[in-house]
Amino acid sequence: MKNILVTGGAGFIGSNLVRYLVEKYPGSHIYNLDKLTYAGNPDNLADIQDRPNYTFIHADIADYPTLREVMNTHRIDAVLNTAAESHVDRSISDPFVFARTNVLGTLSLLQATLEYWEKHDLMERARFFHISTDEVYGALQPGEPAFTETNRYEPHSPYSASKASSDHFVRAYHDTYGLPILISNCSNNYGPYQFPEKLIPLMIHNIRTGTPIPVYGKGENIRDWLYVEDHVRAIDLILHRGTPGETYNIGGNNEWRNIDLIKTVIRIVDEMLGNPEGHSLPLITFVKDRKGHDLRYAIDAQKIKDELGWEPSVTFEEGIRHTVRWYLDHRKWLERVTGGDYRTYYHTMYHRQHTPLP
Ligand SMILES: NC(=O)c1ccc[n+]([C@@H]2O[C@H](COP(=O)([O-])OP(=O)(O)OC[C@H]3O[C@@H](n4cnc5c(N)ncnc54)[C@H](O)[C@@H]3O)[C@@H](O)[C@H]2O)c1
Repeated sequence: MKNILVTGGAGFIGSNLVRYLVEKYPGSHIYNLDKLTYAGNPDNLADIQDRPNYTFIHADIADYPTLREVMNTHRIDAVLNTAAESHVDRSISDPFVFARTNVLGTLSLLQATLEYWEKHDLMERARFFHISTDEVYGALQPGEPAFTETNRYEPHSPYSASKASSDHFVRAYHDTYGLPILISNCSNNYGPYQFPEKLIPLMIHNIRTGTPIPVYGKGENIRDWLYVEDHVRAIDLILHRGTPGETYNIGGNNEWRNIDLIKTVIRIVDEMLGNPEGHSLPLITFVKDRKGHDLRYAIDAQKIKDELGWEPSVTFEEGIRHTVRWYLDHRKWLERVTGGDYRTYYHTMYHRQHTPLP
């Protein structure tokens, strides 16, 4: 694949993916198309912005005429769609923007891609890869088997409903028009360049600044965690060796109750900051639970292991230590993204949704 279009490449997973592709495939050109919402940050790719095989395009995936132009001008033969509104809390307070970007945006991208590939006879060898989430499968009870690719979709939040809807459109373009699509549904990612409204970077930021750490309910929700570079390796493998029309679940086989994860991160941050053990535990503040909060997600990643030989390569202990170190070493990055609009938004949301329990 010569001309690879990554959407949302200025975000968390997108920027890790773009960097990986730019370095691994010097013979391909990587186009990063991003709207630069609050979550998109050009700083995330400052180290590779001058590479000859990298180009940034400031655009919206819901802007269909521009997408048609991009496909034609750059003769795109692979699309990796990571652009999305991705934060569940925001989807609860403003669901419309999730429908616009995640559903209409994905549909615009599908249609622009289909037209270009049909016209230039690329339907055999090109690939359209849609990056999705385990949240589309709904919630599990403790002890229930992990999600497989055949689980039925049962999204609960406006975020997961919008992602489920976009997945259905992607499959429909395969089944109706024969577009060579791939879909992956991945569990929670962690690692460098994640916007600090998400649990792990938010915690590191709050511990460092002595700010309360809001914990929903009693912290009993369970998530599976995967280091972002392992996710990126899986995407690369599926892109090149996956079977068109297929879905692949990606997970870390690494389930944690939120409260246990939080205590682990506190221990590591305190240790790295030279604080005595337990120093930051009093920052834990239990707050009213998120509306419709899914209790547990877990991924069965047997299919990608059997068919493509992928497994996570980074242990949680290695990954989380590297992640904490990265945020502590990149204070400027953290300060920049936690200023201005972020602060205004976070404070509004904090007071609206994070009402401490009596
Ligand atoms: N973060 C996770 O744990 C996780 C897990 C599984 C799947 N996913 C999926 O991976 C994808 C990326 O997630 P992330 O955590 O990196 O998200 P993110 O919020 O960090 O980044 C999203 C990026 O998309 C861009 N964007 C938003 N709307 C856009 C639009 N209309 N047009 C063009 N660009 C737009 C933003 O500017 C940003 O750069 C999402 O589709 C998400 O559903 C994320």
